[in-house]
Amino acid sequence: VIQAPIEFGPLSESTLNVLLETTFSRSKKIILVDENTQVNCLESLLTHFEVLSEAEVIVIPAGEVNKTIDVATQVCLAFKDYEVGRNDVLINLGGGMVTDMGGFIASIYNRGISCIHVPTTLLGMVDAAIGGKTGVDLEGAKNLIGTFYQPDAIYIDGAFLITLPDEEWLNGYAEMLKHALIADFSLWNKLQGKKELKKEISIELIRECSNIKQQIVLEDPMEKGKRKFLNFGHTVGHAIESVLLDNEHAISHGHAVALGMIAESYVSMKLGLLSMENYYTVETHLKKCYNLLSLTNEEVEEALAFARLDKKNSLNKINVVLLKNIGQVEGLFEIDESLFMECLTKITN
Ligand SMILES: NC(=O)c1ccc[n+]([C@@H]2O[C@H](COP(=O)([O-])OP(=O)(O)OC[C@H]3O[C@@H](n4cnc5c(N)ncnc54)[C@H](O)[C@@H]3O)[C@@H](O)[C@H]2O)c1
Repeated sequence: VIQAPIEFGPLSESTLNVLLETTFSRSKKIILVDENTQVNCLESLLTHFEVLSEAEVIVIPAGEVNKTIDVATQVCLAFKDYEVGRNDVLINLGGGMVTDMGGFIASIYNRGISCIHVPTTLLGMVDAAIGGKTGVDLEGAKNLIGTFYQPDAIYIDGAFLITLPDEEWLNGYAEMLKHALIADFSLWNKLQGKKELKKEISIELIRECSNIKQQIVLEDPMEKGKRKFLNFGHTVGHAIESVLLDNEHAISHGHAVALGMIAESYVSMKLGLLSMENYYTVETHLKKCYNLLSLTNEEVEEALAFARLDKKNSLNKINVVLLKNIGQVEGLFEIDESLFMECLTKITN
């Protein structure tokens, strides 16, 4: 599988114009946005690219709750009305919700049309837009329907981040820290001491994080081995995120992953892989940026039940990616449920 090329820097100076005026000169152009990227990002795209003045713009409602097969169907119906054909191109302008959804639609509509990702969230830039996984949720089950499908190109322009809310910065920052923890000690150091993410996360740091993801998926595009390491922090993270989902204490994905990384680093230490000193370094930094949780006993049980659901697990075991060092993964391990319960105590107060 060939990975899509990624370009960093101002969109107006990128090769997007060339791509639109050569490969797609005769194609119909459709732009997919959500309500927020329509307001905050669309205008700058349209003003820079004359060729997009006649593009059809499709707006979908924002938020994970709308990353559904029903919304995807609505978009496909709009494509049908616009008579979108196999040679046309979809530009996905938004966060991971839009690039996941748009990538999915591009992969199935008319047996596949071209698409271009222009991520507008930090998480999209360092993670979601890269690697060719697309998908929508089915009755709350995340990404249950999806494909592997590469866009023609990915353009990463930090200028879109100016309007990004603080909470979304923290979401993306968690995935940046994850990339550093699994692959790059010096990047971990560079990511420390950031008081105001908005001002201190440079396009250079974004590029370093994106490159880590790109490199891992290049080596393992279909997630048969190494790509699974990107799930570091996600076994625990996903479990607590799901348990609190419809609750007044619901937490964001990034927050859940950050706490998941504390828990899974703790497991790494308990099993003699990560040194105690390194564990405390990880814990201290993450606790500084992300609040601990209060979970009822019932919620702890539910988190365990959720982690057990993973079909890859053998009986009474839970799969977790463990660290050997800051910047180095040891591998994917099966841990006992008792250790899973124990590590939850590290992220609750
Ligand atoms: N495909 C993958 O490999 C992969 C990897 C990680 C995450 N994901 C998916 O990505 C999604 C999360 O991505 P996300 O965090 O970008 O969420 P998102 O796309 O929902 O964006 C978060 C919020 O920010 C708003 N927004 C986007 N850009 C903005 C901007 N420039 N200014 C102001 N507001 C803006 C959005 O409208 C939304 O309200 C999840 O659905 C997750 O499953 C996919």
